[in-house]
Amino acid sequence: MAHSLPQELSVAPRGPLTGTLQVPGDKSISHRSLMFSALAVGTSHITGLLEGEDVLATAAALRAMGATIERTGDGAWRVDGVGVGGLLQPATALEMGNSGTSTRLLMGLVASHPITATFTGDASLSGRPMGRVIEPLSQMGADVTASPGGKLPLMLRGLCPAVPITYTLPVASAQVKSAVLLAGLNTPGITRVVEPVATRDHSERMLRGFGADITIEESDAGRIIAIRGEAELRPQTITVPGDPSSAAFWLVAASIVPGSDLVVRNVGLNVTRTGLVAALRLMGADITELDRREVGGEPVADLRVRHAPLTAIDVPPDLAPSMIDEYPVLFVAAAFAKGRTVARGAHELRVKESDRIAAMKAALEACGVPCEEYEDGLAITGTGGDAIPGGGRIASQLDHRIAMSMTVAGLHAARPVTIDDVAPVATSYPVFYKTLDEVSEEA
Ligand code: S3P
Repeated sequence: MAHSLPQELSVAPRGPLTGTLQVPGDKSISHRSLMFSALAVGTSHITGLLEGEDVLATAAALRAMGATIERTGDGAWRVDGVGVGGLLQPATALEMGNSGTSTRLLMGLVASHPITATFTGDASLSGRPMGRVIEPLSQMGADVTASPGGKLPLMLRGLCPAVPITYTLPVASAQVKSAVLLAGLNTPGITRVVEPVATRDHSERMLRGFGADITIEESDAGRIIAIRGEAELRPQTITVPGDPSSAAFWLVAASIVPGSDLVVRNVGLNVTRTGLVAALRLMGADITELDRREVGGEPVADLRVRHAPLTAIDVPPDLAPSMIDEYPVLFVAAAFAKGRTVARGAHELRVKESDRIAAMKAALEACGVPCEEYEDGLAITGTGGDAIPGGGRIASQLDHRIAMSMTVAGLHAARPVTIDDVAPVATSYPVFYKTLDEVSEEA
C-alpha cells in the first residue's frame, strides 16, 4: 500500500482542546483479531476494528491466503476462518505497506504452513530488521531468503510440520514473541517463548480467548509462554478497545495547550501499554480515570486530561516496553516541561517506522527546542509551559507517529510547524485530523 503524493501540512497554533473524543480501535489488537479469526474454524465477528492502512494490509494478506474477510459496517467485520493449518499458497506477493506488525506476525503464521510467501513493503518497512524473526522461525524449519541485512523484500518457505522450539527473546519485542507463538499454533508439541522483559500480552490473552492451550509461568529467567500446537481455534465475537497509543497524542496535546479539558473515551489500559500515562503523571500531568471497565478482555477507562504545568523528569527506563510507541509524543511533552527531561534505555526507537531518536531530535531542533542525542534516547530542554518557537519544516520520514507528534507540538508554537508529509497518519489513525478539528479551533 504505497502512499499517494506527499501531503504537506502547516499546523497553526490552536486554542484549548475541549469536549469528548473517541480514539480508533487498538492497532495491535486489530491485527490479532483478524489473524486469529482467520485461523479459527467458523465465523468470527469483530467490532471496533481499526480501519487503518496497516490493519487493511493484514486483511488483504489473509484473504490472499484463503480467509474470507468482509466489512459489514463501520468498524464491524466478519471473518470466515480456514482453521489452523488451512492457509493457502498466495498467488502474488504479500504487500505489507508500512506495517511491521503485519509482516512479522504473518511471517510466523506462514512459517509452519506448507506455503511460500514473498513479503514486500514501502521504503520505511524495507529498512527495518527482520533478522529478529528470521532467526527463531529458521530454527523451527522455515527457509528464508531475505534482502541484504535481513530486510524486505524476502521470501519465506514454511515447513509443515515445523519443529517446536524454546526461544529466549534477545530484544523486548511483542512482535517477535507473537511470531514464534503463531508459528507454534500449527507445530506439533509445545513451543515456548521466554520473555526476560514483559511486552504487550495481547497475543497471549486473545489466543486463550480463542481456545488455544497456552500457559504463562513466571520464572527467574522471565515469563515463559508455552503454546500447544495443532490447536483448534473457536470463532469469537470481539470488541476492540480504543488504542492507548492513539490516545497518547490527546493526552499530551491537552496537557500542553493552556485551558484544555478533554475526555478521551474507551482507552485500553492494559498495564503492558500504559507507560506514557505513568510518565506524564510523574511530570505532573492531570489525568484521571473515569468508569474503569472491561472491553474484549482488556481493561479500559475514559481518561479526562486537563492542562497542567509539566516538570522535567528522568524517564524510568523500565517503562520503555510499555510506552515504546509513545516516546515521540513524550518528547513533545518534554519540550513544554520545566527543565531537562532525559529519556534513555530506548534503543529500539532506532528501528521503528523511522529512527525515532534522530527524527525527533531533528524535528524538535527545527522548532527551536534544544535536544541532546544519546545512542538510546534523547534529553530535551523544555520551555516551562510557554509556546515553543516553532517555524520548522519537519520530515515525517514515512512515520505516522512523527507526523502526529509534531502536529501536537505545533498546537502550542509561536510560529506554524510545517510537516512535509502527513499521509502516513492513515496507517494507524485515519481520522486524526478530523478529530483535531472537532476538539479545537485555530487560535
Ligand atoms: C507491536 C509491538 C511493538 C510496537 C508495534 C506493535 C505489536 O513492536 O512498537 O507498534 O503489535 O506486537 P516491537 O515488537 O518491535 O517492540
